Amino acid sequence: MHGISLFLTSCLVTSGTITAAREIIFPPVVGRAETLYPRPYDGQAPIQPLQTSLSSHAAQPDEDDVSLETDAIGGLASFAHLPYVPCFSSLADDQIDRYDIAILGAPFDTATSYRPGARFGPHGIRDGSRRIRGYHSWNVYTGQNPFSEWAKIVDCGDAPLTFFDNTVALKQLGKAHKIISGRQASNVSVSKVPRILMLGGDHTTTLAALRSTIDHWGVVNVIHFDSHIDTWNPNRIGGGVSEYAAVNHGTFLHIAHEEGLISNDSSIHVGIRAPLSSRRYDLANDAQCGFDIITARDIDDIGVKGIIKRIKERVGDGKVYISVDIDVLDPAFAPATGTAEPGGWTTRELLSIIDGLSGLKVVGADVVEVAPAYDNTGETTCIAAAEVARSLLTLMVDVPVAAQDT
Ligand SMILES: *[C@@H]1O[C@H](CO)[C@@H](O)[C@H](O)[C@H]1NC(C)=O
Ligand SMILES: *[C@@H]1O[C@H](CO)[C@@H](O)[C@H](O)[C@H]1NC(C)=O
Repeated sequence: MHGISLFLTSCLVTSGTITAAREIIFPPVVGRAETLYPRPYDGQAPIQPLQTSLSSHAAQPDEDDVSLETDAIGGLASFAHLPYVPCFSSLADDQIDRYDIAILGAPFDTATSYRPGARFGPHGIRDGSRRIRGYHSWNVYTGQNPFSEWAKIVDCGDAPLTFFDNTVALKQLGKAHKIISGRQASNVSVSKVPRILMLGGDHTTTLAALRSTIDHWGVVNVIHFDSHIDTWNPNRIGGGVSEYAAVNHGTFLHIAHEEGLISNDSSIHVGIRAPLSSRRYDLANDAQCGFDIITARDIDDIGVKGIIKRIKERVGDGKVYISVDIDVLDPAFAPATGTAEPGGWTTRELLSIIDGLSGLKVVGADVVEVAPAYDNTGETTCIAAAEVARSLLTLMVDVPVAAQDT
């Protein structure tokens, strides 16, 4: 099929001459992009011929003519300027706006093993998302815009978590998850149960999410983007100190397995490269927790396409929870994280892989371990994390999935 064409009356002012009516051809999408993304940008959206003329703009508009609707960076910092809804307040369902997908911040970092600071992650990611706006969010590769589809997406703010007792904080976070997902969704023709995209927080916060996810969606397959396996046996990391210390950002997937929250044979780590604490035990234990492993260097052998294929084969058409530890990126692309590991992926590689996962039934997701204090002045990590969040939202909107109890 040929690309579509249209006539655009352009006013190209070049040294005093004006060129008129130029034919614009949108090239057909071919090759690599087509196989990576099942729904490539196809140029089929209605396109109004654009009439532009320098003389149609007033030299200086009056105050009556200026708009307060188009400011791209102003306003309070919700994620991507989404409306704030007090989702986990005591207000009844009919007193708050309904939603299909909720952003939830988890300001928690007291179970981290190296550099603290991920409690400011939700704040940092929201700041990094200031240039994301609904009307300007069409993905040039996939042709999708999560903000213009069937789903109402809102920001619920941060769960209030105590910083003095991890077990209490995780219970608070779990409770917020349960209240948010327990409300009636907005578009009930898709699902009565809203889904959550959590902004962490150290990675322990994912345990609270999984403890809630199982209520509506059952056992999930986890796609875990990370440089670390995080299935460490608590008896090896933390548990030697106390039971309390056993629950931490390196053991939470082991605990999720023990609690029966995740599948025993269909989860996968992606981007692994951090050293193990035991040459053989850690990997055997990891497999027992239900995980297969794609290492960071696998991308050199099988490429982005090969990685997408392996992930899809592993999780099949089961319900999927996607957790993205920002340290899956190389520290050059995401310096602001607690336990940075050299030798990771570029932001482009990670986004290509996530966008390539369209078609999976994503019932929940998170972006965690963003510790803004270690970011550079260009907000490299926070902007990357916001972009990852946008791609995760796109996956969640792409496949409308109904909960088992709807
Ligand atoms: C609800 O979702 C369905 C299915 O995706 C869609 O066709 C419909 O337009 C949505 N309704 C609203 C009000 O967005
Ligand atoms: C996975 O196996 C463990 C025991 O090794 C069990 O406790 C858990 O319930 C199983 N999970 C599922 C989802 O079947």
